[in-house]
Amino acid sequence: MLERQLSEWVGEAFRAAFPETDFGGAEFAVYPTKDESFGDYQCNAAMKLAGILKTAPRNIARAAVDAQAPPEEVDRVEVAGPGFINLFLKNSALAGALEEMGGDRRLGVPDPGQGRTVIMDYSSPNVAKPMHIGHIRSTVIGNALDRLYRFAGYEVISDNHLGDWGTQFGLLILGYRHFRDGQALEDHPAEELERIYVESYNRSKEDDTWRDQARQELVKLQQGDEENLELWRTFVELSLKEFGAVYDRLGVRFDLVRGESWYHDRLPDVIGRLESAGLAEESEGALICDLSDEDLKVCIVRKKDGAYNYATTDIATLLAREEEFAPERIIYVTDERQQLHFRQVFHVSRALGVKPDLVHVWFGLMRLPEATFSTREGNVIKLEALLDEAERRALEVVKTSSPEMPADQQREVARAVGIGAVKYVDLSQNPQSLVTFTWDKALAMDGNSAPYLQYAHARIASVRDRYRERFPEGRCDDWPIRIEEPVERRLAGLLTRFPAAVLGAAEQYRPNILADYLYNLSQVYSSFYQNVPFLKAEEGVRESRVRLCDLVARVLKTGLDLLGIEAPERI
Ligand code: ARG
Repeated sequence: MLERQLSEWVGEAFRAAFPETDFGGAEFAVYPTKDESFGDYQCNAAMKLAGILKTAPRNIARAAVDAQAPPEEVDRVEVAGPGFINLFLKNSALAGALEEMGGDRRLGVPDPGQGRTVIMDYSSPNVAKPMHIGHIRSTVIGNALDRLYRFAGYEVISDNHLGDWGTQFGLLILGYRHFRDGQALEDHPAEELERIYVESYNRSKEDDTWRDQARQELVKLQQGDEENLELWRTFVELSLKEFGAVYDRLGVRFDLVRGESWYHDRLPDVIGRLESAGLAEESEGALICDLSDEDLKVCIVRKKDGAYNYATTDIATLLAREEEFAPERIIYVTDERQQLHFRQVFHVSRALGVKPDLVHVWFGLMRLPEATFSTREGNVIKLEALLDEAERRALEVVKTSSPEMPADQQREVARAVGIGAVKYVDLSQNPQSLVTFTWDKALAMDGNSAPYLQYAHARIASVRDRYRERFPEGRCDDWPIRIEEPVERRLAGLLTRFPAAVLGAAEQYRPNILADYLYNLSQVYSSFYQNVPFLKAEEGVRESRVRLCDLVARVLKTGLDLLGIEAPERI
């Protein structure tokens, strides 16, 4: 690969310029540039070596570049800014890189994850509460990361860590006994459970006795009371059915669905381990881990009434996962409010000797302009309703843009476009920024949206068909890729950055790095398409351009797929 070859060259250049120097573990590597004005690849090693060499980085870079001629693929080398080495490739070298990429099913994306196991904990809604729009971010972002890591070669174990053992069951069991409407439960189970929960919750706010009773029901359940267990099983079953329908629509599947209850039996053992490691202490009747020295406050692991906490379950889960799967890394995807929780859990688990890298990927809450999302208040916009609305609106768009398409196909396309649009709103922004969802943005045909990319993909994919119609004898693949026009060069350069976008999105836990890349690619493609002749170009140039189109279409399709978004061939 070109990148490796260029990295080797910079290493040689530095060693040739400073033969006496021991560079220790210094890394000599080039990276694809963000912007073509900095060349195709860039090396920033000179800045890092300034300390060892006691010389200004610019002079170090200059010396290296003068010491060793670059490989023949390089057109020119520039030393820029504080000491960057910018490499500009020859057009022929770029064309060669694209040939290589085109011949690879993985489009040149390496698989550094081979032989490495990662557990991904995402979605994880709470049983007997509807899966509302706030959960969509965990599911959508988590699933994109899941796909990205698998593509990078990792063995990914996705685990839906359902909240099936929380405090809500006390309120729910009590409410169920008092406010249940049998018919409604049969007709619309999820809604009815939600109604019961909300009613019980509201009553608990005004009525202390009610609140105490609910707490007692919870303790009974946790101690294995058969009647309460039976009710609990019913709630879990009903909720799973409802969640399953949403996952099907979103194209999400899990390797494991192990809720909190799965670890329930292990909780006393966790307490034992914490105590014997000297990590837990009694405080006002509760058992706590005092992490105030770490600036992590206090983490309660067993409450006064004997009930265990969310954190206790997460520590038990971690220990069990390490024991069973020995993963290299565990990645949790939740909203920002759980940052302290995970810092506490990670800290305590490490103190217990847990080895995997522990990563909390948190995201800001999603805001709809017209509502907030708190289940507790019963003010919920459900995901299902949001997806229905998305498909309905997408169907309007498809009907206008493709009136001649058969109705079945319009509906199928509208499904892919509508679901893709909702997902993409999440995926196209830095997870940590606040997302305001608007339909205009989600469905924008001329902006950074899924429909825009899906349309671009379908249009680009049709270029080859038009070529075949016009030149039935033509054999594109017999012609080499040629890079000539400046806009063609830009497009080619961007295509070669695809692997970096995929790995960058995975490594930084930011699917938006890939989304931004795809959007940028389709914009550059548009100016390419508008500025150079295609089917009217002379033979050879024409074939090369059709092949470039093909590559762009493949990159878009693969990239969208990694984000969990379908790219229909026809729109
Ligand atoms: N059920 C939790 C919630 O909805 C999320 C669980 C995240 N995963 C975990 N291992 N704690 O807030």
